[in-house]
Amino acid sequence: MQFIVQPSKLRDATVSVPGDKSVSHRALMLGSIAQGSTRISGFLAGEDCQGTLAAMRSLGVRIEQPAATEISINGVGLHGLVEAESELDLGNSGTAIRLLAGLLSGQAFVSALTGDASLTGRPMQRVIAPLQQMGARIDSHDGKPPLTIHGRSPLRCIDYAMPLASAQVKSAVLLAGLYAAGQTNITEPAATRDHTERMLRSMGARVAAAGGRISIDGGQELTGCHIQVPADLSSAAFIMLAALLAEKADILIRNVGVNPTRTGIIDIWQAMGADISLENPRSLGEEPVADVRVRSSKLQGGRVDPALVSLAIDEFPVLFVAAAAASGKTVFSGIGELRVKESDRIATMATGLRALGIDVEESEDGAVVHGGRFTGGSVDSHGDHRVAMSLAVAATVAEGPVTINDVAAVNTSFPGFDECLRALQAEIRVVDDVAT
Ligand code: S3P
Repeated sequence: MQFIVQPSKLRDATVSVPGDKSVSHRALMLGSIAQGSTRISGFLAGEDCQGTLAAMRSLGVRIEQPAATEISINGVGLHGLVEAESELDLGNSGTAIRLLAGLLSGQAFVSALTGDASLTGRPMQRVIAPLQQMGARIDSHDGKPPLTIHGRSPLRCIDYAMPLASAQVKSAVLLAGLYAAGQTNITEPAATRDHTERMLRSMGARVAAAGGRISIDGGQELTGCHIQVPADLSSAAFIMLAALLAEKADILIRNVGVNPTRTGIIDIWQAMGADISLENPRSLGEEPVADVRVRSSKLQGGRVDPALVSLAIDEFPVLFVAAAAASGKTVFSGIGELRVKESDRIATMATGLRALGIDVEESEDGAVVHGGRFTGGSVDSHGDHRVAMSLAVAATVAEGPVTINDVAAVNTSFPGFDECLRALQAEIRVVDDVAT
């Protein structure tokens, strides 16, 4: 599948983007092991979360999906999961495989987890190490999937100082901690998204968090509830940048999750001169939401604060595009984690931007992007959904048409991305490879 994007004149619009991916995965997992029923509204019906849904069904949970974004789960309780008959295929999703590794480490059965070509190349030692300390035995292929998890019940509680800032690792240990005898403590080197902690609390669990240290007591039963998933700020970010780069546009994106552990992108863009405001702030359960208004702005480059990296971790591809369109140069540092995302995002974005005439210097854990004009051309997403969408946004302000190849992965996180851009009047066409 390809996107073909023409230089576009965007107009004012009010739009919605799909539900938050991180919250949707967690709602499925926690709803499954809660007692009683859990309803999820605003669920992200993208391929990643559908994969988690299928996995939870394979583990014996009755889950209905009466509409694409509505889910109803018959929770089986903390100890109600059963061994799956076959391997669980988590597709492209790092969140699914790492969080499930935690959850399944505490079960008295064996589980096999795998994924697609991208996922089977991603590092899992970061979850294997703490989960093995807790007593699970995990076989991998040199620290990469497929994983075979020999669970243990109960697990041992641990005090774990995470060597890297990762919400996925933190969440895997917290889920395992529910199945440990005693209190599990985790210290994080920098704040990461805290959706797991918030959702555990909304299901009645006690989770303490202060000064970068999170504690959970094992054996706590969760109570099913109604989870309303906010729109995903990480998806909204593409629409926000399209609006910022447009000649004159005023865009409102409704009901977006603005959890402070996710809003690094807003801080970074505002520091670059972006006109972004949060309107009508409110809460959906434990999660803060707002309508996000974005007006076209002149962006200036600068040094991106490395302290914001973990709070904007998925937004660097789109941020590279912002830097390329800004005046002057933008310096990124402390972003080595991007090399082990769905693709090596420093390399894939540098390659994509260079193909559109932008000067990018790369280092092992950083990059310098020199602002310029995008030429037309042909670029590749390398199968990475966020790279595909970032380059499509760049294309709306390019000097000629841009073809973005290999964009099917966009459906993992943002089904309807092209329609959403068209609502702003962007000229984007989706072309099926078979038809070309
Ligand atoms: C996620 C955490 C982040 C992020 C990913 C989703 C989550 O990964 O990149 O897309 O839902 O916990 P890390 O925690 O590994 O940085």
